Amino acid sequence: MIGTEALYTKAAPFFAKLKERFLLSLPGSSKETWHIILDIAGSGLGYKVGDSIAILPSHNPLLIEKTLQSLHLTGNEKITCKRTARSFSLRDYFTNHVSITRIPRDFEAAEGYELWDYLLDHPKTLSAQEIADLLPPLLPRFYSIASAQEASANEIHLTVAITSYTSRGHLRLGVGTHFLCHMEPATVPIYLQSSKDFTVPHQEADLIMVGPGTGVAPFRGFMQKRLVENHSGRNWLFFGEQKRSTDFLYEDFWMDLSSKRLLQLSLAFSRDQEEKIYVQHRMMEEASELWKWLEKGSYFFVCGDASRMAKDVEATLLQIAQNEAGFDLEKARLFLKDLRKTGRYLRDIY
Ligand SMILES: Cc1cc2nc3c(=O)[nH]c(=O)nc-3n(C[C@H](O)[C@H](O)[C@H](O)COP(=O)(O)OP(=O)(O)OC[C@H]3O[C@@H](n4cnc5c(N)ncnc54)[C@H](O)[C@@H]3O)c2cc1C
Ligand SMILES: NC(=O)c1ccc[n+]([C@@H]2O[C@H](COP(=O)([O-])OP(=O)(O)OC[C@H]3O[C@@H](n4cnc5c(N)ncnc54)[C@H](OP(=O)(O)O)[C@@H]3O)[C@@H](O)[C@H]2O)c1
Repeated sequence: MIGTEALYTKAAPFFAKLKERFLLSLPGSSKETWHIILDIAGSGLGYKVGDSIAILPSHNPLLIEKTLQSLHLTGNEKITCKRTARSFSLRDYFTNHVSITRIPRDFEAAEGYELWDYLLDHPKTLSAQEIADLLPPLLPRFYSIASAQEASANEIHLTVAITSYTSRGHLRLGVGTHFLCHMEPATVPIYLQSSKDFTVPHQEADLIMVGPGTGVAPFRGFMQKRLVENHSGRNWLFFGEQKRSTDFLYEDFWMDLSSKRLLQLSLAFSRDQEEKIYVQHRMMEEASELWKWLEKGSYFFVCGDASRMAKDVEATLLQIAQNEAGFDLEKARLFLKDLRKTGRYLRDIY
């Protein structure tokens, strides 16, 4: 079934059933991270570990009502989408087609607003068609697949952290994460986003996997596949989260693998002590062994936050190459470039 990426698209997604969901983060955590199981039976979809899916979310009905009220519209008005020339009721258009959390570019001083409270503070008289023409499209959201099809043929598992923050005195919820984790969608429209190289390369390969937070998702899939297929390569996971007691995502799975010596596990809980401890600090502590793995041909995978973590992990890798091999900075950079070129340094960051 592999190679079925084109089977479903943004315009023609597969409607997966939400089979099960449960919280991975425990009471007392400052985060809300969910395990989501989608049923893809009958889809013909074939995915490989390391792939992602796009989901097409719908907006929260309460948010839609607040937006309609701030526009003094009912939602029953008929509008025509200027991009597709298709007709919808305004409520349907708000629900599935355009963003009502991003503010149209033409509106000034929009920082920290959603459409409904922007309009309360900056009242405007707009017809249904006028507001429809102004709103940006509702975009797909991407999630790393956290399962292996070799282990659960008709399911796609996800690891999803709720986006929530307060701005202008209001709690805001991420559209995609709220849809997946809080709403009761009859179905979840999805399509596959295949990764080219971010996958288990071959059965003898040694894998170093750096996946703090939701970045751990694909590595659960990697390990499921390796178990089913009895791979001989070694596995080393660097996982980090805030607190061990509440945020150790998939703790039982990793601890079981570790106790069976199928996985080397390096843990970095950032808020269990005064000073921050991150995955790259653990890499530094284990630098000499990590370097030996790399010298022997290990692959190096990184998944998760792009803005800070992935940069710091890369800087640490450069430092390790300098400390362990005696390279100067230029040679360390060349080493990393070569690792990337030969397909042994792979990142899925967001
Ligand atoms: C390839 C890929 C794989 C991914 N895999 C995963 C995964 O496995 N698990 C996962 O949970 N996510 C993953 N993501 C991220 C995911 O796609 C979404 O971006 C994320 O879930 C947020 O989507 P949302 O619709 O809930 O939030 P949105 O409605 O898109 O809201 C996010 C927006 O809110 C605003 N915002 C957020 N926080 C703040 C703040 N503190 N202050 C002010 N404004 C703020 C920003 O404008 C931000 O762009 C992945 C992304 C990519 C590209
Ligand atoms: N750009 C941002 O400011 C920002 C902030 C939060 C989340 N996010 C995004 O939110 C989504 C979900 O995040 P997530 O739940 O997967 O987890 P996450 O926010 O990436 O956190 C996971 C762990 O990584 C730690 N961490 C923070 N900065 C780090 C760094 N520079 N290097 C290494 N580790 C670091 C966190 O520690 P501490 O939290 O204790 O610092 C936590 O222990 C991701 O899309 C992520 O990109 C972005």
